[in-house]
Amino acid sequence: YADDGYRLWLKYDLIKDVAKREGYARSAQFIVLNGTSPVLKSAANELQTGLQGLLGKSVPIITNAGNRTGGIVLTESKGPDADIQQLNREGYRIIKKQNNITIASKSDAGVLYGAFALLRQIQTGQSIDNLALTSNPKIQYRLLNHWDNTNGTIERGYAGGTLWKWYELPATVDPRYVDYARANASLGINGTVVNNVNASARFLTDEYIQKVAALANVFRSYGIRVYLSVYFPAPKTIGGLKTADPLDPDVKKWWVDKTKEIYKAIPDFGGYLVKANSEGEPGPQDYDRTHADGANTLAEALKPYDGIVMWRAFVYKADPKADRFKAAYEEFTPLDGKFDKKVIVQVKNGPIDFQPREPFSPLFGAMPKTPLSMEFQITQEYTGFATHWVYEAPIFKECLDTDTYAKGKAGGSTVANVIDGSLHGYAMTAIASVANTGADRNWTGNPMAQANWYAFGRLAWDHTLTSEGIANEWVRMTLTSDPNAVKTITDLMLKSRGIYVDYNTPIGLSRPWSGIHFAPEPWQEKSARPDWTAIYYHRADSIGLGFDRTATGSNALAQYSPEVQRKWNNPETCPLPYLLWFHHVPWTKKLNTGRTLWDELCTRFYTGADSVGWMQQQWAQVKPAIDPEIFADVTGRLATQRMEAIWWRDSWVLYLQTYSKKPIPAPFKKPE
Ligand code: GCU
Repeated sequence: YADDGYRLWLKYDLIKDVAKREGYARSAQFIVLNGTSPVLKSAANELQTGLQGLLGKSVPIITNAGNRTGGIVLTESKGPDADIQQLNREGYRIIKKQNNITIASKSDAGVLYGAFALLRQIQTGQSIDNLALTSNPKIQYRLLNHWDNTNGTIERGYAGGTLWKWYELPATVDPRYVDYARANASLGINGTVVNNVNASARFLTDEYIQKVAALANVFRSYGIRVYLSVYFPAPKTIGGLKTADPLDPDVKKWWVDKTKEIYKAIPDFGGYLVKANSEGEPGPQDYDRTHADGANTLAEALKPYDGIVMWRAFVYKADPKADRFKAAYEEFTPLDGKFDKKVIVQVKNGPIDFQPREPFSPLFGAMPKTPLSMEFQITQEYTGFATHWVYEAPIFKECLDTDTYAKGKAGGSTVANVIDGSLHGYAMTAIASVANTGADRNWTGNPMAQANWYAFGRLAWDHTLTSEGIANEWVRMTLTSDPNAVKTITDLMLKSRGIYVDYNTPIGLSRPWSGIHFAPEPWQEKSARPDWTAIYYHRADSIGLGFDRTATGSNALAQYSPEVQRKWNNPETCPLPYLLWFHHVPWTKKLNTGRTLWDELCTRFYTGADSVGWMQQQWAQVKPAIDPEIFADVTGRLATQRMEAIWWRDSWVLYLQTYSKKPIPAPFKKPE
């Protein structure tokens, strides 16, 4: 039947090559499940479901192998066994032992992750004969953040309304919640914040706690805990108190009681995510308290439980003279060491806001005494919603792999090493991403955007994986095993982000958007706030383009370590992708490409838009290898992308030309 994309990367279609299929089947004749934990049961069931599809055989689940061999044994054990010793709590070891494949972990969740890893081996056509595979998650809390509202909408969601049917919950539990949990567990995602950071206080009412508890009841069997975004003044708005001052004893008591109420309904509740004093949201500063005061009050309320506070560092003030780039660092670095040990500060990858290309946030490496977690954005708020094909692993990797030089010498202080705790010895480690899922049948609107959910999950588990490896794996699990098609699609994915950046925000431009962050509006000079105009970011004038963040400008560069400053401070040597992030460059300046800034910009805008035509041609070639429904869907979206890339190109070029007063270079000039 036609594939509507619902099954994501958990398709489990029958392996066509009979010899290969039988080879796998010889090693998967039974599944041994010895234990009663619901998560272990999920592991066995997932294996059974997957193998049924892939091998076309019903593989029995038994409790004891006796002396049978040729099966899969699930083992949760704290035992002295060397295989187990090298694992952290959720890690797994898959090994061929006494002619059985053993999947061992210290936790039931680890066994579940191992089960999915074994299925992945088979789905991607690899041998399972001599398996000896050890994998430990490098980061402890791996979460999706859903910006979902009580009225069913999703802030920055492009795949339909919310997955959570608030009006039906808790009495009606959509079976789709199980599939959501399965998909996440297959990647090792172990937590989900179910509501928007611009939070409604209603989520803390009994009515909503019961609804969220019903979700938690489903997710629990897949090792996934639920978390809530909280509205900081809730003690006032729903608690009837006069204040929400975090140091007020009544307010503290309110949080203690509320937390107790939540844990009664959700015993494994994960904790709170907070957006405070950010973009008009209230917070502790309204009472002359600090972010740490606010976070610590919530942490205190969580003290009796295994829950944490994720306090967001996404803050900036509406000051036309200030540089928004510097705000989070300025507000948070003075608080280093002042947070309770249950608090982790959640930092967006870049200092502004999920731009298609952004330098890493200078907070990474600058708060050695405070665990920092990463916040990425999977949903394509600034990367073309659900019509533009942008594979995001390179965005995530570029940030993770950048050296902060927090400890001086090259190599050891990457952003990844900051957030995985290895650099500063953080007690807690976390990584989160704003989800791109919605009620659309295929989950993500654009079928290709499933890869971004997938890539985030895989990197959250192991940030050393490569963009290419993840793409290749995803294509083979989700779309096709035809080697040429796999190659073509992987290549398209890897180039897609660069192409988008070229027609959208080349050479370090940022934020040229209209209100909803989709259509080009680089000419926007007025808005509700000065820092919500386009000109605030690109600073075009008759001389040139770009935001001077060196000492002659905002000096935001001073927030980075000296080594990073040296790399980016000099416009002659600053890498082109970041040039206009840090420098105001004259139109006529010759860049290291041999072209002037103006000619280089035009070249990027034109080749970027043209490259979408190339994407269309490449995609057309894989038609025979792809399910017709998905093929047609992506073909349509690419046609829209092509048209919109031309808009982007023309909007930018014609607007910037009013400043540069230069002609469009000859190769791109249209005949009159
Ligand atoms: C962006 C986004 C908002 C969101 C905010 C945040 O500004 O446009 O919708 O609320 O980030 O992350 O808090």
